[in-house]
Amino acid sequence: MEATKTQIFRIDHANFGKTIRMAARIIREGGTVAFPTETVYGLGADALNPDAVLKILRAKGRPADNPLIVHVSSREQICKITEDIPECAFGLMDAFMPGPLTLILKRKAIVPGVTTGGLDTIAVRMPDHRVALGLIRESDTPIAAPSANLSGRPSPTTAAHVMADLAGRIDAVIDGGQVRIGVESTVLDLTSDIPTVLRPGGVGIEEIRGCVGRVLAGYHEPIPDVGGVVRSPGMRYTHYAPETAVVLIEGDPESVAARISRLIAEYHKKGRRVGLLVTEETAEQVSGDEDLVLCRRDDLEAYARNLFGGLRYLDGRDVDVIVADGSIKSEGVGAAVLNRLRRAAGDR
Ligand code: TXA
Ligand code: MG
Repeated sequence: MEATKTQIFRIDHANFGKTIRMAARIIREGGTVAFPTETVYGLGADALNPDAVLKILRAKGRPADNPLIVHVSSREQICKITEDIPECAFGLMDAFMPGPLTLILKRKAIVPGVTTGGLDTIAVRMPDHRVALGLIRESDTPIAAPSANLSGRPSPTTAAHVMADLAGRIDAVIDGGQVRIGVESTVLDLTSDIPTVLRPGGVGIEEIRGCVGRVLAGYHEPIPDVGGVVRSPGMRYTHYAPETAVVLIEGDPESVAARISRLIAEYHKKGRRVGLLVTEETAEQVSGDEDLVLCRRDDLEAYARNLFGGLRYLDGRDVDVIVADGSIKSEGVGAAVLNRLRRAAGDR
């Protein structure tokens, strides 16, 4: 693709309005702008302009059948692009919007097929971030935005990560500092009989159950085809993976530490250098050639916040393999952390 000059807009108190106006102008003119949300940085374009949405796919190298999340700043905007909204959706909106929850609903015809990967459903989310909300409002259109990384790489949690992947491929990035949550939104399908989580994320499945009752976890098993249509196309592709191979060790803390130490010995025998992505407790028991200590074991929020940056950091060090500590609880945002690590490891 032809190189573009990527503008960097730094957000500070004094220039907020002016920066948002410049970025919104690019969106309205059909360009691409990466921006911070509370989860990860997104790569945005006008969701109702098919040429603009194509630019997102080209910049990321993303397959055209993988649908995008459409970001809105109000409920009225959700009603403009969706139909047949089920009753339970409104309770979820009250509880989690704005926030890290994406709802799959039926789409209206004004949404171009390229935005939804040709599906008759649409993913919508209202980000809980002043820059993201300001940009959507000022652009006066819903904004399609996948995570702002090259397809398959770890999602970006800083503007520097966005530039590392997409400099020269997008029109602009708004630098709003490090994100708060660090893993993507929870994707909840409301078009099936029972609400189904297609991707665990920032909102725990326990919290969603508290709001709507019965909820299926559709991501443990391969998601069944519905009448020949794959329900969550994104789940088919490699994801979140650095260049360096990732190995995930799951289990109780003691056996995880023991297995990591055995693995390090095996790799060292073969002359391979090992990077560790670990909790403080595990780091007290084992050490590799490069250790990145993320958080205390029970601080799942900190694990989530530091996860993708940690993978990128170790990827940039001189190691042949990254061994990740999966000794955390699979609850709340911990389920999302383990899901991303499993995918990064390609189930190794
Ligand atoms: O936190 C997030 O959700 C971030 C920020 C930028 O908002 N966005 C994000 O987008 O993670 P993306 O495109 O990387 O992930 C979208 C996920 C994919 O797994 C995709 O398959 C699924 O949502 N998805 C989108 N539309 C869908 C639909 N109509 N039906 C089923 N799954 C859908
Ligand atoms: Mg992504």
